Amino acid sequence: MSNFIPTRVIKGSVTYRYGLFPDEGQQQPKSSSSLSNAPPLHTTLPIVIEPNTEMVDHDRNNSSKDSLLLWISQNKSWIRNVLNSSGAILFRGFQIMSAQDFEDVALEAAHYPLQDGYLGTSPRNRVTKYTFTASEFGPMVPIPQHLEMSFLPNSQPKEIFFYCQSPPENLHQGETPICDMRLVYQNLNEEFKRKLDKYQVANVRNYCSKRHAQHHHSLFSISFWSNILKQLDPFRTKPWEDIFETESESQVYKLCEHDQVEPRWKQGKELELYNEHDPIKQVPFALPSNDANRHGEDSSSKNTQGQSSCFTWSNHMQVFHIDAVPCEYRQVAQRQQRWIIYLLWMIALVVILIKKLLVSRHDQAQHAFFVPKRSVADNGKDHAQQTNGVENSKKESTFGSEETTKELELSTKEIQHVSDTIWQNTVFFDWRKGDVMMLNNSIISHGRMPYTQKKSKRVILTAFC
Ligand SMILES: [Fe+2]
Repeated sequence: MSNFIPTRVIKGSVTYRYGLFPDEGQQQPKSSSSLSNAPPLHTTLPIVIEPNTEMVDHDRNNSSKDSLLLWISQNKSWIRNVLNSSGAILFRGFQIMSAQDFEDVALEAAHYPLQDGYLGTSPRNRVTKYTFTASEFGPMVPIPQHLEMSFLPNSQPKEIFFYCQSPPENLHQGETPICDMRLVYQNLNEEFKRKLDKYQVANVRNYCSKRHAQHHHSLFSISFWSNILKQLDPFRTKPWEDIFETESESQVYKLCEHDQVEPRWKQGKELELYNEHDPIKQVPFALPSNDANRHGEDSSSKNTQGQSSCFTWSNHMQVFHIDAVPCEYRQVAQRQQRWIIYLLWMIALVVILIKKLLVSRHDQAQHAFFVPKRSVADNGKDHAQQTNGVENSKKESTFGSEETTKELELSTKEIQHVSDTIWQNTVFFDWRKGDVMMLNNSIISHGRMPYTQKKSKRVILTAFC
């Protein structure tokens, strides 16, 4: 591995290097026996930028926020190049003391205007105009790797920032690991890749309403118990009024139009959002040559203008699929080896099994499955018409089937394969107070590991553009 990590490079008031060294915050897995615990394969993730302590400047402290802002303003194109190859930068050791400091850094470093709204699924709180808490999920809920809002390609942020205002108190818990989704696509098995070429991914997301209470059912009815089960999903998130920041249904239709999402109001004013998109994306960001070479096949290519491009995994199957929760707990349990996580994994397996029996996929909090690629003629059809057809058709679930005219559930085996591939390529490091991480959100995903601590003690903020 050391062959791929150059010594520190001094660039004005900062030093930088590729990847984190084990003694500087990158974690080693507890066991190498499991496939998912194999050491991360990526050698250039993240690029770490630190103050240059060897250059003494009596007028300016190299670790101050102002020094960092100045350095960023003078190195914008270098930063852009790094984001287009490695995809991740970690600013470490600078005096970034508050949400406002973080916002200042993000405003300076971002190559696009920061967004002050958020249509994603995670419960979040606004902190300053452009910064939010990264997630309000409970500490024991793992968040699988994802490119922010990859399920809404028209609204997917281009860059995303994270800031550690207060690190988790236990080492190797509560991290925000990252993963190169180009490597994930490259490392998937060929059979599954062929499926990704033939199908689109369909996402179903259900949100409750603030204003309308759930309908009451008899204690002895299936609907009563299926409603209880729906509430047991840890990824069941905020009400739709909070997502869209409006209570107007017509406004929701308008906002959905931009993302080609079909809103459907159901009993109790619950809202189902349905959309389809390609599960992989061609991006103009080739893998750094070291990483492409290490993985044998290099999936990058050049277009007619000589620009390098690459395919990347770009969807939320590993988050939205009904098996995603137990799948993620399985991986976390193997890494953290804590009895409470093993217990939560077992509970998740049982709950999901019952949910599959009692709750239809269009009523799950979230679900993802394959749908045939639509022809141009199909694109204008009303989706409700198509959905009715699907509900009545025989569901296909054979792994590797060549049938591409029907909707297709992803099998548990497939979602585990995706999860294993992601975990094989995931890079873990412990947060340090003041860290700011900048990611190219088209290629580098992020997630969150569970932790045992009061939620208010671990403060990670985010901003995006
Ligand atoms: Fe996220």
